Parts: sequence; structure tokens; C-alpha cells
Amino acid sequence: MSILFDKNNKTYTIHTRHTTYQMQLAPTGHLLHLYYGRRAEGTFDYLIRSRDCGFSPNPYELRYQREWSLDTQMQEYSGSMNGDYRLSAVRCAAENGVRGVDLRYVRHEISAGKYALRGLPAAFARDGEAETLTVTLADETIGLQVELLYGVYEAQDVITRAVRMKNIGNGALRLDKAASLCLDLPFGDWELLHFHGRHCMERQPERVPLTTGIQTVGSKRGMSSHQHNPFVILCDRAATEDTGECYGVMPVYSGSHKTEAERDQMGAVRLVSGIQDEDFSWTLDPGETFDAPEVLMSFSHEGLTKLSQTYHRFIRDNLCRSKFSNASRPVLLNSWEACYFDFDADKLLALAREAKDLGVDMLVLDDGWFGARNDDLRGLGDWNVNENKLPGGLAPLIRKINDLGLKFGIWIEPEMVNEDSDLYRAHPDWALTVPGRAPAMGRDQLVLDMGRNDVVDYLCGVLSALLRDNPIEYVKWDFNRGLADVYSRVLPPERQGEAAHRYVLGMYDLLERLTTAFPDVLFEGCAGGGGRFDAGMLAYVPQIWCSDNTDAVERLAIQCGTSFGYPVSSMGAHVSASPNHQTGRSTPLETRAVVAMSGTFGYELNPAQMSAEEKGAIRDQLARFRKHDALIRGGDYYRLTDPRDAKRIAAWQFVAPDRSEALLNVVVTHPEANPRPLHLRLKGLDPDAMYAANGMDRVYSGAALMYGGWTLEALFGDYPSAQMHFQKV
Ligand code: GLA
Repeated sequence: MSILFDKNNKTYTIHTRHTTYQMQLAPTGHLLHLYYGRRAEGTFDYLIRSRDCGFSPNPYELRYQREWSLDTQMQEYSGSMNGDYRLSAVRCAAENGVRGVDLRYVRHEISAGKYALRGLPAAFARDGEAETLTVTLADETIGLQVELLYGVYEAQDVITRAVRMKNIGNGALRLDKAASLCLDLPFGDWELLHFHGRHCMERQPERVPLTTGIQTVGSKRGMSSHQHNPFVILCDRAATEDTGECYGVMPVYSGSHKTEAERDQMGAVRLVSGIQDEDFSWTLDPGETFDAPEVLMSFSHEGLTKLSQTYHRFIRDNLCRSKFSNASRPVLLNSWEACYFDFDADKLLALAREAKDLGVDMLVLDDGWFGARNDDLRGLGDWNVNENKLPGGLAPLIRKINDLGLKFGIWIEPEMVNEDSDLYRAHPDWALTVPGRAPAMGRDQLVLDMGRNDVVDYLCGVLSALLRDNPIEYVKWDFNRGLADVYSRVLPPERQGEAAHRYVLGMYDLLERLTTAFPDVLFEGCAGGGGRFDAGMLAYVPQIWCSDNTDAVERLAIQCGTSFGYPVSSMGAHVSASPNHQTGRSTPLETRAVVAMSGTFGYELNPAQMSAEEKGAIRDQLARFRKHDALIRGGDYYRLTDPRDAKRIAAWQFVAPDRSEALLNVVVTHPEANPRPLHLRLKGLDPDAMYAANGMDRVYSGAALMYGGWTLEALFGDYPSAQMHFQKV
């Protein structure tokens, strides 16, 4: 049993392999948080040192115990306006205008298996893999019940959390905030490691000390966003890749989100994470429930690498439902950077022949194949083939491509519509716009109201037909602007605050229906690159286009930042042309391949423009990728350097779970004259085993490679790279 309840001291203890999580019911019925950290036995209530803290109120029944205040106690899920002035996890207004939430114990239940959420993605468990703890709290005065859900994956060292709210009163309630997680840490010197960015430069790590007050990261864009990924880490000031304590908080959510970290008057830290509360409200009529999205929590006392590896495994094994999650993926050639909107059937077939000649598995037809889509000003929403470009439709093209021995994949952007489209002309009310106000445009397109059932049903019909009628084996699902003018024509005025979250639920519904109906189709997420790279999407799709920036050197930082939370098997990465289309930088073909191989691997260029020598190199790259595919996809990932460190090298490594082999990858980001030796220490090897390097005769012990390290040959030129394979002998 990984979940225990001790009746005597009313304490809940959750153990995973390396961590312990503990809560206790206070005499008042409030649920206190006692501990989350390295695995330990015993009860941690001795750590609660209550003392009279001026201006921190006391619950009525403890009014003579001035040292007992909700304002200074660690709480499991904070209410509001009840004397705790720190971050609220839930805010709510009753019909009579009463605001404030004070949650007290009602009951609890421990059950086998993992809870599920309604309409939201969540981690799953195989038989015996997880247990669920449900602690039910309520504010009887306003009629709000809150179920705190804990999914415990003992072997994986992951605890999932979610919250189910229910109106148990007689009048309507309005939720103004419904966070998924509140985590109180009483002591420690914590830093917030978060992943910010912009279009073409996603998930850049930034590590900042928590100062007194509140620090916030979040998105109001209706998408998890390029600007702030929802995944954050709270780590000890001294934590490194290999040492120190760190907590991961990974929302399984793709819409607007918010994570706040508050350091209070006592130096304690509270982290609250969930749906963005700005412009959010949700009306709960009597008897109705609301599920707040899941969050995946993990803790490592052995540094950041360990924490990342836990998330990588968990996403692959317990979150992503696609059959491709742990499977080899086709190497694809994508048409976008090869020809953008400028193509016809002949050009695509020529591209396909080139792709086949190189040994690529699949041709992906990107944007531009439908409606009047000759540029990005028109056609979105019209998912019928543009027969001027592709006479006879997709079928004859796909047949010819299949006849070459290639699979075929396609791009769609279902959630969007151009004003200049038949869909918009027929259903202008399907777009999110404010009546009477000219809408904010983004890439000249509007966003469909995915909160509407008729919109989701329509899209499901059109896309199901597309996938049913054509042998399409891959879909790139794009999303190229943020939400604005979030007004839904099917919601009454008092429910408009629900529109953004209903959008996400509708989008998940569509994904759920399509991925269930077409389990053999490989879906790749995308949002102007990595603008919706999150665990919510990864529950449905095994891979997401990491960034529209395909520059190999910039990708080092983007993919490294992404790796803190997400597995390499989820990172869409391609070799593109040089000079690069986004930066103008020239990089060697080999370096581009080394970087793209640490992802799903594919090409996004026109091979016809390459020399015979380059084509030969690509054939070698494909062979090498296929050889190392399983190691890269399923191996343990180690960041050896920080690629943003301009004067050094970028280096990372994969180690097979049984430590039988490892792949070391290095890119020189700053070449030097008369260079100092490039020396690295490998990680994760079996110290007692002997390894051969790149198939050569001499062998080295794992201990030697890890403690003594490895010196690389001098690398010369612009952004040179090296890949070394170490095999146990
Ligand atoms: C987005 C994607 C690109 C490409 C274009 C097509 O920007 O990220 O990869 O598909 O759309 O319009």
C-alpha cells in the first residue's frame, strides 16, 4: 500500500519509491500539509511550530489559541477570505453575494487504480500500477464541496493531483479560481526554474530565487504558449543537474494557465498552479461538478537530471495513449520549408521520389493543399482539396506516393478559420468574436469556438472523412494564433467566463474522438512550432513540433530547455536547408542531423537542391538514426552542458536503461583557434562494465569514462559536431 491513513493522529502518508508525501487533519477539520520530499518514515507534525503571529487571525473555535492561524499553517488546498492571506487555491461567490471559501474535512477514500477526469486528459495506470486517495472537504455555508484527488504511482515516483468541485447547496455558485494544486513548503531556500520564450525560441530555462512576495508565470493566450510553458521546477538554491532537491509541477493542460509562487512573512513558500484565473469564472448550479485539470508532481533529491528522467518515462509510459508513444516513428520529409505554398502534384511527386531515393519513410504535405489556400490570407476552414494544385484530389497523389514505397502524411489546422473562406461565410458566428467589435486578427485568421458542440461535431465529421477516405498515416495538427475576443455566442452572459476553458475541453473532445477512431494514424501537435507543447497535448499525441526555428544551433537551446520536462521522443525535429530560413546561419549538414536526431528526426528541405555528396551523407544519417533510434527514444537523457553557454560546447547523452550502450552528442557552439581540449565526463554508465567507443578495439571502464572523462578530437570549422557510441563489451 502506498497510501496510508493513521486514525490515531489523522495523518495521510503517501510513499513512492523515493518520496514521501504527508497531510494531517487539524482539530478544526482543515487539511494541513506536513511534508513532501525524500522518502522518510514517521509523522512530520513535530515540524509545525505554531506561534502567536500578530495580525494572523485564528479560526473561531481556536480563538483563544492565538498561535494557531491558517495564515501560518501549511495547508493542502487553501481557501480564501478565511484568515489565510496567502495565495488562494479556490475563490468562489455564492448566489447571495457571499465570497470566501473555508474547507473542512468530510470523508476520505483510498482505492485501487487511478481516478479519471471528465473531458480532461489525465495519466492512466495499468493493473496494480496506481492507487487513488480522495479527500473530500467542504464549505457547508456556501455549499461547495471539493474532492482532492491523488493518483499515486509508487514505482514511477509520481503523484498526480486534481480537484473536483461540486455544488452541494441550493443556489448557484460562481467559481472565480479553481487551482489544481497548492503546495506549501515551510523551510528552504527555493528557486523557481521556469521555461519562458517566444515564437521561434521556446522553453528557455530561467532560474530565479524566490523573493518575498509573489512570482507568477502563466499564459492568457488560450494556449499553453511559446511565452511561458506550464511546467515549472522549484529547486534548492544549491541544486545542480546531479545533486540537490527539486520539485516538478507539470500541468496536464493546454489552455491559459497560471503558476504562482509566494514566499510569505515566515519565509515559507506556497506554490499554486492551475487554470489561469484572469477572465475565468465557472457557474456551478446545484448538483453540478467541475474538474480542475491534473498536475503531475515529482520530487528528486538527486538533482534536475533525475527529475527530468522521471517525467520522460512517465509521459511515455503513463500519459501518452498513442500506440506510437514507445514505438519507432517514420522518418519524414515535410514539404513546408521545401516549397511553402508553392507546389502542385508534380512538384510533390518529385519531392517524394527524392525522399524515397534518400531512404526517407514518409512524405508530409504541409499547409496549402485545401480550399483557396495559396497564401496564409485565405482558405483555412475549407478542408476540401484544392484541385487546381492536386487534380483529382488527394487519392491519386497518395496512390502514387504509396507506389513509390512512401507513407503519406498531411497538415491540418482544424481550430481556425480565415475570414476569406467558405466556412466563415457560412458560419460567421462559429468564430470567437465580440458582437459589434472588429476582432483582433492573428496571421489573418480567427479562432473557431471549440466550446460549441456543433463546431466540434462538424470538424469531427470533416476530418474523419478525410482520414477515412484517404490512406493518411500521419497528421500534423497546427494552431497558429492565440485566442482574443473570447466571447461565445452559445453561452449566456453569466457564463462567458467559461468560454476559454470550454474551448480547451472542446479541443480535447475533438482530439479524443479522432485519435480514438484512428489509432493507427501518427498525430503530431504543433502551434506555430512549440506554442502548445504541454502534457495535455502529449496525452493524445506522442510528438509535437518543437519550434518553427529549425536552426541547429538555436535548436540546441530549445531542445535542451524542452528536455527538462518532456522526453526526446516527443520533440519534433528536422534537418532543414543551410543557410537556415529563420536565422540565415550556415551549419554543417552533419551538425543539423546530430541535433535533429535528438528528436523525432526528419527532413524539411528540397533534396533536389543538394549535391550527390550531401545526399550520400543523408543516407548515412538515416542508417545511423535507425541504428540508435531505440536508444534515443527510450534511453535516459543527460544534459552534460548548458548550450546557452556561448564559449563552450553543447553536449548531451543517451544511456540505454540497461546501461549496455550510450550515445554522446557534441556540438561546438564557439570554435576557437589553438583550442583547449574538449573534455567531458560521461554519465549514467555502469562503472564496472567495459565499453568500446565507436566500435574501436580499445575498451574503457564505465568508471573511467564517468570519472576520468573523455577527450574529443579537436573539432574545426563552423559549428562542428561529433557523435560517439559507447557499447558494453
Ligand atoms: C506553422 C507551423 C509550420 C508550418 C506552418 C504552415 O507555422 O509551425 O511548421 O506548418 O504553420 O502554415
